[in-house]
Amino acid sequence: MIKLGTIGTSWITEQFIDAAVNSGEYALAYVQSRNIAKAQTIVDKFGAGKAIDSVESMVEQSDLTAIYIASPNSLHFEHAKLAVTNKKHVIVEKPIFANLEQWDEINALAKENGVYVIEAARHIQTKTYKHLKNLIEFKQSAKQYPFLGANLNIGQYSSKYDQYQQGQQTNTFIPNVFNPEFAGGSLYDIGIYPLYVAVDLFGKPQNAVMHVVKGSNDIDLFNHAILEYDGFNISIFNSKAVHSVLHSEFYFDNELIKVNNITDIDTIEVISKAENKVLDLSYPVTNPMDDEVVAFASIINGQDADKYSQLLQLSRDVIEVITELKRG
Ligand SMILES: NC(=O)c1ccc[n+]([C@@H]2O[C@H](COP(=O)([O-])OP(=O)(O)OC[C@H]3O[C@@H](n4cnc5c(N)ncnc54)[C@H](OP(=O)(O)O)[C@@H]3O)[C@@H](O)[C@H]2O)c1
Repeated sequence: MIKLGTIGTSWITEQFIDAAVNSGEYALAYVQSRNIAKAQTIVDKFGAGKAIDSVESMVEQSDLTAIYIASPNSLHFEHAKLAVTNKKHVIVEKPIFANLEQWDEINALAKENGVYVIEAARHIQTKTYKHLKNLIEFKQSAKQYPFLGANLNIGQYSSKYDQYQQGQQTNTFIPNVFNPEFAGGSLYDIGIYPLYVAVDLFGKPQNAVMHVVKGSNDIDLFNHAILEYDGFNISIFNSKAVHSVLHSEFYFDNELIKVNNITDIDTIEVISKAENKVLDLSYPVTNPMDDEVVAFASIINGQDADKYSQLLQLSRDVIEVITELKRG
């Protein structure tokens, strides 16, 4: 049983604990918050674990195997460093770290200390995504004409965007997700989902460019990225500041593969030029983190070394592409 500690007390932490505990692979051991009452509320809700107010104290606990880190992006590095140097495995929310230097440092420390560092990219662990990947591999091999590309789209008007706009106008609090000091922004927060899919399916692009509309605090609000490969392009639209109903499409000959929601990958359709639906696949999902917790448990339990190497490389490649996109 993996004894789990958590950092961060927003809804995503509760969703992760719920999936972890229900998988039967994890037992909640510690919940950390700067405000112990917040941690205690989560402990009470799940009827397990101990509330603790300091990350430094939590990482020293001997009855703790792994820590789920869901702090603001800019704090992932210091939290992961404390955990791995104390020989705790870490599952770090996306985007794992702000740059390659941080990624390399933590991974070297993790190796030295014999622990795993896993980026919580939940969407590529779902059953439906695995079907998508097989389908695209099949279509690549069976296509008649060259593959030209895909359009991956995600526009989610953030519940914190109004607060951001007010903060900008009145010089008051800016939510972390729209604050460059906390490594916020559309690309880090949601653009990373389609980017993960593109890099997992097609590898690192030869070139990556992004056109950005920024807010007055320099945060990226509305992004169009192009990943250029040999013979095809993947375009990625992402924004936390608009409401969009665009789905995502991969094009093969006279058919397209349609994915309704690139962050959740819950439904895939194959549609022919005559608008005939050739295939419609979906798995009902109760908690979108159910599949990732099981995959990560098999890594932490030492049963999936190949999967770990593959996820590690993918995580590093994604950070490398993000760095290139941020360069503009
Ligand atoms: N996989 C997904 O579907 C998904 C969804 C949402 C978010 N995320 C990821 O989860 C992470 C957290 O996102 P979020 O929106 O929950 O962030 P957030 O609300 O800004 O912060 C998360 C938690 O970190 C702690 N925190 C906030 N500001 C802090 C500070 N200045 N210093 C130390 N701790 C601080 C708070 O916990 P305490 O007050 O209790 O200390 C807070 O609950 C991000 O990496 C994000 O990308 C993933």
